[in-house]
Amino acid sequence: MYINLGLIGNPLNHTLSPLIHTHFLYETNLNGGYTCFDIENNCLDNIVEMFRKYLFVGVNVTVPFKCDIMRFCDNIDDTVKSMGAVNTLHFSNGIISGYNTDIYGFSKIFEENNIKVSDKTVLLLGAGGASRAALKFFKDNKPKKLYFANRTIEKALELKDFFNVDTSVIDMQSVDDIECDIVVNSTSLGIKNEAFPYKAKVREYAIDMQYKPYITSFLSLYNNEKEIVKINGISMLIWQAYKSFNIWTGKTFNPNIEKLKYIMYNN
Ligand code: ATR
Repeated sequence: MYINLGLIGNPLNHTLSPLIHTHFLYETNLNGGYTCFDIENNCLDNIVEMFRKYLFVGVNVTVPFKCDIMRFCDNIDDTVKSMGAVNTLHFSNGIISGYNTDIYGFSKIFEENNIKVSDKTVLLLGAGGASRAALKFFKDNKPKKLYFANRTIEKALELKDFFNVDTSVIDMQSVDDIECDIVVNSTSLGIKNEAFPYKAKVREYAIDMQYKPYITSFLSLYNNEKEIVKINGISMLIWQAYKSFNIWTGKTFNPNIEKLKYIMYNN
């Protein structure tokens, strides 16, 4: 049997997902492939039809389709309901089920680093699509205090309402005045390696959802503060992919995270 897997998004020029899923297929001795479809906004109906026709089993969904794709799902689980976004489709017996594995990926950062959030003051930067997994995680794991900063403050207020999460919304100009144990960057700022202009006072962890370069623009803000643990988004990416792969194939295994990171940063 051949397992047809794929990804839709726009743009997809720099995606690492085919590399990760090819590695998973190889490690689990499964025959299959992971194809990328960089599509236009008005193409969702056609592409979903194509997935059915060509017997796709699993498809990842990334920016900007994570919300719009929900209308094609026959089933969505509780995580999706509470997050309002799907990043994984599973096709089975003509039924499309939608999942969100970003939250699993994000939670693994805290598990791998033994971080107990309930003791911590946390600052979350950004109220775009990527912030949703973090907000859901913090709603469930209740930090001692959660600050939530965004350039467009109305978007942060909207998400605060949507998630019904206990948080103090602030503007980006106030970030430099904040003292926290953990800062998380979910903005797209710095993605072109431009300087990151907002720097909170952090005691323990700086976490970036971005993963390129290894020390991102945001993490490099804290280069001179050796006591701060710097974590980029590569583990989150690998673990969300693992969870999607698990949903599609039923396989559970220990992904070789270090080997994958080596492959990803040496190409
Ligand atoms: P993603 O899906 O990657 O989260 P997005 O939904 O477009 O992308 O969100 C991008 C996030 O980065 C937003 O929080 C955005 O702030 P606004 O909501 O004010 O647009 C933030 N962001 C992007 N460029 C920024 C900049 N130059 N300064 C501050 N915030 C920025």
